[in-house]
Amino acid sequence: MSKDSLFKPEKATILSKRTLTESDKLFEIELDNGEKLNQEPGQFVQLFVPGVGEAPISITSSPTKEGPFELCIRAVGNVTNAIHQMKKGDKIGIRGPYGEGFDIEFLEGKDILLVGGGLGLAPLRSLINYILDKREDFGETTILYGCRRPCEVLFEEEIERWTESCDIDCRKTVDICPGGVCWTGNVGVITTLIPDMDFDPETTYAVICGPPIMYKFVMEELDKAGLPDDHRFLSLERRMRCGIGECGHCQINNLYVCQDGPVFNYADIKDLEEAL
Ligand SMILES: Cc1cc2nc3c(=O)[nH]c(=O)nc-3n(C[C@H](O)[C@H](O)[C@H](O)COP(=O)(O)OP(=O)(O)OC[C@H]3O[C@@H](n4cnc5c(N)ncnc54)[C@H](O)[C@@H]3O)c2cc1C
Ligand code: FES
Repeated sequence: MSKDSLFKPEKATILSKRTLTESDKLFEIELDNGEKLNQEPGQFVQLFVPGVGEAPISITSSPTKEGPFELCIRAVGNVTNAIHQMKKGDKIGIRGPYGEGFDIEFLEGKDILLVGGGLGLAPLRSLINYILDKREDFGETTILYGCRRPCEVLFEEEIERWTESCDIDCRKTVDICPGGVCWTGNVGVITTLIPDMDFDPETTYAVICGPPIMYKFVMEELDKAGLPDDHRFLSLERRMRCGIGECGHCQINNLYVCQDGPVFNYADIKDLEEAL
């Protein structure tokens, strides 16, 4: 395959656009060649908006979902604001899926503790729905989700379903709840949920996705709970260009986040100065 074709996006069509919060939208997308994306939970695509550019975006739908794949996109800059303005039927480009996602085969049979902060729920949702669709393949599963305020909660209806489900333990928290707002979850940062958790550090594996600041504090709580370093997986975000290990834009020492990650075992990166 020539280098040019590696960088050539597949044409794709926006099938639907749904508002999740003031700054986040969920897009259903289909490749125009009719093929499935065949992603693994935790992988990302390079989204190309014609005339604007590319950005890496996690695939938020599970591979167990039939039909179009989904991207949850927060409008923060050029590409993400541009796609927020697009509508059903508009054309975009997709490269990927890329990167090392969550090691599903390894996680099978284990107890899973999922910790998602803010937009970190987007990649986690793919794994959560995979686990729910193959429930008997996994042990006890707990979701801890936190964001700043109730109006920033992503996938509200799904979180309600997970909370009510007997198959999974789902707990939610917000940093702040303004007066007069109806909120049934905890109030406090996400780490305040961890001391109440009763998990076995021998059998439990944590999967953590969130803003960089969250990792430091979650790691401290997991240290207190006695969870070994190699029982923790996390997804890193770096500015990317090629997405395929060619440009070095996302490099941390000898690691390329786009190719060796974005999901890493904490034991492998905890001593890399720039990683966390
Ligand atoms: C593996 C991976 C998965 C991701 N998944 C998602 C996802 O599921 N959903 C999602 O919404 N986002 C996701 N992101 C984040 C997304 O790729 C970035 O927010 C991306 O920058 C958006 O592109 P943009 O063109 O819209 O923004 P840009 O125009 O690139 O701007 C983004 C922000 O960065 C600032 N900025 C611009 N240039 C620079 C610079 N040179 N140095 C420092 N700051 C700069 C801007 O001011 C702005 O605040 C993911 C990122 C990675 C690496
Ligand atoms: S983005 Fe180019 S090497 Fe990772």
